[in-house]
Amino acid sequence: MKSKTRNRNRQNIGYTVGIMAGCACLILLLLPNQERLHVRGPMNSGHENFKCKSCHKSAPGTVRQQIQASLNYWLGRRATPVDFGHRDVTNDICLTCHERPEDRHPVYRFLEPRFSKAREKLHPEFCISCHLEHQGRRVTLKETTYCAACHEETRLKKDPINVSHARLIESDRWETCLGCHDFHGNHIMNTKTIVEDSWEPEKIRAYFEGGCSPYPETLRQKAKKEEDIDV
Ligand code: HEC
Ligand code: HEC
Ligand code: HEC
Ligand code: HEC
Ligand code: HEC
Repeated sequence: MKSKTRNRNRQNIGYTVGIMAGCACLILLLLPNQERLHVRGPMNSGHENFKCKSCHKSAPGTVRQQIQASLNYWLGRRATPVDFGHRDVTNDICLTCHERPEDRHPVYRFLEPRFSKAREKLHPEFCISCHLEHQGRRVTLKETTYCAACHEETRLKKDPINVSHARLIESDRWETCLGCHDFHGNHIMNTKTIVEDSWEPEKIRAYFEGGCSPYPETLRQKAKKEEDIDV
């Protein structure tokens, strides 16, 4: 009889300790200082002095997912560690400041089924596929030749350039495209018509890395600043 009670007492103590440890863990996870973000690396061009919360919005109520993601990280199933209490940075966040109604390549367009191959290769449906933040650069996509993913079939009825688009495309001269065109169509400019006059790929690459822009300064749509939006 006596030893049974003792066993039960010991069991109860076990439960209590277990529950207390569980609570302590939860409290630790929920403490506000767990929401602190740790600096990742230099900000990209134009974002140098931004507040973190311009892009990182808090996400209360998803602690379970965050614990899961952390576990996955520790188990090697996830490449990056997570910070508690924050949502992913999605297109919407970028578009609050970079809305460009005339974007010739708007991200949402590439959700269409006909772009499934391009999505596999490039993920053009996400801003951060090409502009990953915290890299101290401007365009983080490596290749300047990615137009190939969608423009194999591009032909112009009356081609205004000295080496036709058809010829450029047949001979895989994809490095020339960004030498005459920007991607979003946001720079106000006259498109060149002589291939030899186009900006060299090195210039484009330097611009990707954060160097000065070969494209004209005047933009159709300027970016909103932090003070223009509700941060
Ligand atoms: C202009 C928008 C922007 C600003 C401002 C910004 N970040 Fe980020 N941050 C991003 C993007 C985009 C990612 C990549 C998200 C991903 O990998 O899913 C990211 C990722 C991170 C990550 C990794 C999170 C993860 O889940 O892998 C950390 C940590 C981070 N940022 C910290 C900061 C800190 C600290 C600041 C302020 C000094 C800051 N960020 C400011 C856009 C921003
Ligand atoms: C709070 C507003 C804000 C948010 C949010 C924001 N940006 Fe920006 N971004 C700016 C401003 C302002 C500049 C500087 C524009 C300039 O210099 O003309 C800039 C610059 C840039 C540039 C470089 C432009 C250039 O010509 O050098 C890129 C690329 C860019 N942002 C992409 C993004 C992406 C991708 C996101 C989402 C991850 C994002 N931005 C989120 C306001 C914002
Ligand atoms: C498939 C790659 C790709 C995607 C996806 C992409 N960009 Fe870009 N972005 C570029 C390239 C290349 C440039 C440089 C050429 C140019 O200026 O258009 C650029 C330039 C920019 C610039 C500077 C020039 C300007 O238009 O003011 C901003 C800002 C920008 N991108 C924001 C964004 C935002 C916001 C998104 C998502 C809504 C996005 N980009 C999606 C490739 C991409
Ligand atoms: C993910 C697919 C995709 C990628 C990658 C892509 N484009 Fe496009 N591009 C399109 C689509 C779709 C259109 C619209 C064609 C239409 O409306 O018939 C277009 C239109 C254009 C136009 C004509 C825009 C207009 O308003 O007349 C130009 C110029 C252009 N692209 C250049 C480029 C260049 C340069 C690159 C590489 C830097 C590139 N594109 C990469 C899908 C893409
Ligand atoms: C020498 C400059 C030059 C080069 C290099 C160039 N383009 Fe063009 N492109 C033009 C001009 C000029 C037009 C006529 C429309 C305009 O003024 O934008 C045009 C039009 C286009 C159009 C619109 C077609 C339509 O039906 O309206 C697309 C798409 C396009 N180019 C894609 C590309 C791609 C992809 C490459 C790379 C293989 C490329 N361009 C290389 C100058 C160039």
